[in-house]
Amino acid sequence: MSAPKPLIAGNWKMNGVSASIAEAKAVAAGLGATPARVAICPPAILIHRLAEALAGGPVLVGGQDHHWDDSGAFTGDVSAEMLADAGASLVILGHSERRAGYRETDEIVASKVKAALRAGLEPIVCVGETLEQRKAGEALAVVTGQVRGSLPADLAGKAFSVAYEPVWAIGTGLTPTTPEIEEVHRAIRATLVELFGEAGKATPILYGGSVKPGNAAEILHADEVGGALVGGASLKADDFLGIIRAL
Ligand code: PGA
Repeated sequence: MSAPKPLIAGNWKMNGVSASIAEAKAVAAGLGATPARVAICPPAILIHRLAEALAGGPVLVGGQDHHWDDSGAFTGDVSAEMLADAGASLVILGHSERRAGYRETDEIVASKVKAALRAGLEPIVCVGETLEQRKAGEALAVVTGQVRGSLPADLAGKAFSVAYEPVWAIGTGLTPTTPEIEEVHRAIRATLVELFGEAGKATPILYGGSVKPGNAAEILHADEVGGALVGGASLKADDFLGIIRAL
């Protein structure tokens, strides 16, 4: 099985209005030749316009979350089908901000992953330990437990990726050391192989948490790192391009 291309995805979180479409266009215009697949995940309401603005170009558009059901009486929610219909081809699921702020459990994340697959979206499933858990020596157990609980068997043979995002590294400017990242990524790899056999060897494992142009080269070239999920530094085209060029 040939290794999939590394994936570098920008997570705009709750940032971005019409004017931000220009940043996404600047990423597409400045991308040039790259070994990476590149995606931008804007707020849901911008997906359609971003997808139109980037149509035919190299940058994919993704969502940041969706409901686990396909339709129905869920005021304020959007479905996976709606994201796909608006032009998304990927979706971030189980981000720690959703797990912590909206009480998303592994079970909820797994049902959202199933919904993503029904809609033809490629999930990026996030896992990561808190600082307390790391200090208590529980990082590997927490992360591999989240991988097991959040990835349904339906994923066998499907395109998806896992993003390791230590909660304490998100938006803080702190990052684990390269050996710490590699230790967790190897543990995730072993779990993926256990769950999905040979196919588990090819799933990209992204790193996320304070990735910026200055640290991207070291992180992206670490063992078992198959790309990055980038928050703050994806909001400005120059920073995001700097990370992509570090590959
Ligand atoms: P950050 O966020 O790059 O701003 O740390 C990463 C993420 O939450 O995906």
